Amino acid sequence: AAAARPLAAKPRDEPDPDDGRQRVVIFFGTQTGTAEGFAKALAEEAKARYDRAVFKVVDLEDYAAEDEEYEEKLKKENIALFFLATYGDGEPTDNVARFYKWFSEGNERGEWLSNLRFGVFGLGNRQYEHFNKIGKVVDQLLAEQGGKRIVPVGLGDDDQCIEDDFNAWKELLWPELDKLLRQEDDSSAAATTYTAAIPEYRVVFVKPEDATNINKSLSLSNGHAVYDIQHPCRANVAVRRELHTPASDRSCIHLEFDISGTGLKYETGDHVGVYAENCIEIVEEAEKLLGYSPDTLFSIYADQEDGTPLCGGSLPPPFPSPCTVRTALTRYADLLNSPKKSALLALATHASDPKEAERLRHLASPAGKKEYSQWVVTSQRSLLEVMSEFPSAKPPLGVFFAAISPRLQPRYYSISSSPRMAPTRIHVTCALVYGPTPTGRIHKGVCSTWMKRSTPLEESQECSWAPIFVRQSNFKLPADPNVPIVMIGPGTGLAPFRGFLQERLALKEAGVELGRAILFFGCRNRKMDFIYEDELNNFVDTGALSELIVAFSREGPTKEYVQHKMAQKAAELWSIISQGGYIYVCGDAKGMARDVHRTLHTIIQEQGSLDNSKTESYVKSLQTEGRYLRDVW
Ligand code: 2AM
Repeated sequence: AAAARPLAAKPRDEPDPDDGRQRVVIFFGTQTGTAEGFAKALAEEAKARYDRAVFKVVDLEDYAAEDEEYEEKLKKENIALFFLATYGDGEPTDNVARFYKWFSEGNERGEWLSNLRFGVFGLGNRQYEHFNKIGKVVDQLLAEQGGKRIVPVGLGDDDQCIEDDFNAWKELLWPELDKLLRQEDDSSAAATTYTAAIPEYRVVFVKPEDATNINKSLSLSNGHAVYDIQHPCRANVAVRRELHTPASDRSCIHLEFDISGTGLKYETGDHVGVYAENCIEIVEEAEKLLGYSPDTLFSIYADQEDGTPLCGGSLPPPFPSPCTVRTALTRYADLLNSPKKSALLALATHASDPKEAERLRHLASPAGKKEYSQWVVTSQRSLLEVMSEFPSAKPPLGVFFAAISPRLQPRYYSISSSPRMAPTRIHVTCALVYGPTPTGRIHKGVCSTWMKRSTPLEESQECSWAPIFVRQSNFKLPADPNVPIVMIGPGTGLAPFRGFLQERLALKEAGVELGRAILFFGCRNRKMDFIYEDELNNFVDTGALSELIVAFSREGPTKEYVQHKMAQKAAELWSIISQGGYIYVCGDAKGMARDVHRTLHTIIQEQGSLDNSKTESYVKSLQTEGRYLRDVW
């Protein structure tokens, strides 16, 4: 019979067991919180299943302050599970970058992990070229370095239902953990089904007169020594400009954040993370669906009044409060992504109409798998759209923010300026995300819509602002400005190259000699979306750019793309590459970057008269030398 065990509340950082209980460490590499959520959910479930073990959820970044410490500590682990997301161009998440570099360079260490039993669950998206690269590589390296794999590497696919992949992987994991963590006489427990409780924050409503320190705006840790994803910096919008002409039916925004006096620093080629707000019509819809008036004030906590953590400490810290429902929904709630199955289950528990509850449970169940995939994922039904189909489901705020709506995540943009030209500004070049989904809803991208509607300081003292932070990248110009470069960036893929060219122009003005630079840009039509046309021509005139080559895809009878233009320039590209030049690609990973990669391969193969496998290793070596860099999304 199925039994839901209550989950005991335990302090987050329990000491290592000295009572003979086994320790299981659960590492996560997370960018948007999914991997972390899975790691914590697994720990909660495992704690309920196994009395004889202690489960520790650990951020790989926090595990070791120094690389040597990784070695020292990992040697002592007996059982380790890894939840590792892959991002962009087959890259690890920020919090895993250091571990990944150290671990993947460890060929000489031999079989030093012979004490370790491990399992890896990767989080990725099948639409990308390097699907789950990080999970796969770490899984293989763990085995090569002596670890014993207890379960095949899980390949979570965010393009479909990654929760299903996680659940399927768990089903393979439990029998193996049973063998390691249970004694013979425990066998009865194996038959028990464990259902994790629905997480919930504690919410206390506040009377306006009792609220000191109301959080109308995000409390920002300005004055922090370092700004990062947890400690963003408040930055005003100084400039906002449309880059497309009125003839275009799309929109692309040039935005400048003012960072003067903030201490925020960036380098050419870095990324900026932006916490945007949901647009007002979406927030109002959410208020109606939840049944709260916008100015309801509340405080939100992840622990009980006596300080005991809720849900065994597995809940992320809540957002700053007290705040109004309006503020919370505007700044912290992800309302437009499709709901996870766990969110449907949480909604079901609060549906007063039993038919609605039943249908929600069905959609979240194995039997409803196909329907969920079609009705939710393929139709791109947003959380709000789903909620509007189940009007009797009115979850309380504590459940809504803990189990239904994920936290609104920052959006990343390649910075399109150089600090040499714009030391007090961060420029962003952002295409507006706007268009119908299969259900006929018009999807408006959260951050691009916010940018499009923002009020710049140029127009009003009451200008828009956002919490922002800088993420370093390795997409950097060669250290020697004399080295020739090739840049390929259609559409908003142009962004970092505008920064590169600003930097080169500044160098040139300072009397530095520059190597050759070629830019391949692509857009639909010269008269509509040739963004920064005047600036690019100016870069050519001043010599910061040697040659500008543009592919217009919708002017003639056939599509002209950047890779077609590259093929026409094959001999020159080969000469630059073989002279030690750098190749940079920025933009869409799924189509453009993949096609450009193929073209590059062909150019090298033909011009260098190499066979296929020699070409492969040539391209690989370009990548490992850092001479073929991609900033793709
Ligand atoms: P299209 O929209 O006419 O197909 C910037 O988005 C430019 O990149 C547009 O001109 C777009 O053309 C083009 N583009 C679309 N898919 C591409 C691909 N696979 N390779 C290169 N360019 C592409």
